[in-house]
Amino acid sequence: MTAASLSAKTFTLDGVEIGFERGQTVLQAATRAGSYIPHLCWHEEFPAHGSCRLCGVMVNGHMVCACTLQAVEGLVVQSNTDEINGQRKKLLQMLFIEGNHFCPSCEKSGNCLLQATAYAMGMEAPHFEEFYPDRPVDASHPDILLDFNRCILCALCVRASRDVDGKGVFAIGGRGISTRLLVNSESGALADTDMTLQDRAASICPVGVILPKRRGFAIPIGQRRFDLRPVSDQQPGEHQ
Ligand code: SF4
Ligand code: FES
Repeated sequence: MTAASLSAKTFTLDGVEIGFERGQTVLQAATRAGSYIPHLCWHEEFPAHGSCRLCGVMVNGHMVCACTLQAVEGLVVQSNTDEINGQRKKLLQMLFIEGNHFCPSCEKSGNCLLQATAYAMGMEAPHFEEFYPDRPVDASHPDILLDFNRCILCALCVRASRDVDGKGVFAIGGRGISTRLLVNSESGALADTDMTLQDRAASICPVGVILPKRRGFAIPIGQRRFDLRPVSDQQPGEHQ
């Protein structure tokens, strides 16, 4: 059975018919149908955030975010073109130079959506000059380490802590280039929140910011999720 035959309504993505249900976005329907549209801040458990712009697709000559675009009968969507992927590569390169992403020494290497997406978009080098920001890690919590140097500001931890855990441990603050992930405690330290390792926020981070302590490299490099299969071949729910 094809994706299109599951539903009476379809749109086309790069010339392929994609079935959708009422209320689904283009990204949701495409992902469920097994068609990859690059994304970083979208997660199937949460409403779209629309901040990373990686999911930009072309519709009627305009770039729009597939994660916020409602699927409509007959819509013609272009995603996998050299021009659009080139723009995605630039966005990824800017994310890499804005933080400190030293993949070989990162516990999340091979499980990191940023790294996997960069591979999928053919990014081989940061291209732009590195910022090398100075962002101290927060090792105050007994069980959880925060390395802010790798944050891509996807706000998934903000949404998970607020909407699933009911705690509101994280927030995004500041503006423009000063935008940062913040910990909601008087001291600003994670130890002074009620976050635990069992929280959804503790396992949602698509990159290597929120890490459990004392559990480094339990799965060897080379055997991790994106080491085994590229992100473009993975199903919803496998990402985080
Ligand atoms: Fe996203 Fe992780 Fe940064 Fe939270 S810590 S905003 S989940 S990258
Ligand atoms: Fe759509 Fe981030 S996935 S803007």
